[in-house]
Amino acid sequence: MPCLPASRIGARVTPRAESRPRATLRPTGAHRHAGDTARRTPWVTGLFPQVNRAAPALVPRPDGAVRNKPAGSWGSRWRYLHESTEGHDMKIGIIGAGNIGGNLTRRFTAVGHDVRVANSRGPQTLTALAEETGATPATIEDAVRDAEVVVVTVPLKAVPDLPEGFLDGAADGVTVIDTGNYYPQQRDGKIAEIEDGLTESRWTERQIGHPVVKAFNGTFAQDILDKPRPAGDPARIALPLSGDDAAAKRTVTELLDEIGFDAVDNGGQDESWRQQPGTPVYGLAADAAAVRKALEAASPERTAEWRA
Ligand SMILES: NC(=O)c1ccc[n+]([C@@H]2O[C@H](COP(=O)([O-])OP(=O)(O)OC[C@H]3O[C@@H](n4cnc5c(N)ncnc54)[C@H](OP(=O)(O)O)[C@@H]3O)[C@@H](O)[C@H]2O)c1
Repeated sequence: MPCLPASRIGARVTPRAESRPRATLRPTGAHRHAGDTARRTPWVTGLFPQVNRAAPALVPRPDGAVRNKPAGSWGSRWRYLHESTEGHDMKIGIIGAGNIGGNLTRRFTAVGHDVRVANSRGPQTLTALAEETGATPATIEDAVRDAEVVVVTVPLKAVPDLPEGFLDGAADGVTVIDTGNYYPQQRDGKIAEIEDGLTESRWTERQIGHPVVKAFNGTFAQDILDKPRPAGDPARIALPLSGDDAAAKRTVTELLDEIGFDAVDNGGQDESWRQQPGTPVYGLAADAAAVRKALEAASPERTAEWRA
């Protein structure tokens, strides 16, 4: 069964800069305008080959914004030279800066978004990630303030610890991405509602009081850096997503496209068990057709390995 092995759960991934694929992928950003919900980013490969061999070069954007932005402000305007984009930068708040949160910070900043990132220990512990990516280290409240997209990527058992009403300061219509998985035996302990059949993301929605799009949950954290491919590339993989909000799912589909993945819509949140741990699609790195087939082949029964 293609599940994330226990040995990879919680293992911190600290990829070396030279192993990252972003230097060979560059969105032109030509279609990226505020409010353009249909933007699809064309990709070209092999630009700036000289940059591929060098350490990532940070340069100020043409708008002249500077790196030393006021604490807590949006607008990290530094970009990797080989992936600089123009147009609308989405404000993305990432709650959790571990394996998944760290690598999503890397990819979303690399394609030009304004990212604020928070963890449990405070922004002072995120300076290395900020230096590397240009993201802004923040408290949870600051990461979420005015954000158009919020990614919740903390261990499931930590979701109830997030501050009450933490999404209140987000932009109207904020899209919330939930990367979470329930690991009762290795990490989370027993969550009765999930054991009784509630989907993991529905449980998270109830904890945070907001609809979510379940995405990235079956993706190896390292694959977020290693597997991006331009649209149409035969090696491009697809990731499943579930949720009840069609507009939010469109936003996530576009974000996935921008960072080098196809998306497969698995339907509403009540169907999200099809992408939970232990299912055929969980851990699968394959194209959209194979992902659809795997989703169809899923059984709603949670196997003993994935029960408390
Ligand atoms: N690892 C994978 O390959 C993978 C793949 C797909 C999905 N997932 C799922 O994605 C979620 C995150 O996984 P991960 O591997 O990235 O976890 P991780 O490496 O353990 O990182 C967890 C992050 O969450 C933060 N955090 C914990 N409690 C918090 C709180 N109360 N408030 C704010 N931040 C808090 C931690 O901050 P501190 O370090 O400061 O405590 C840390 O930055 C999990 O549900 C996991 O099952 C993981």
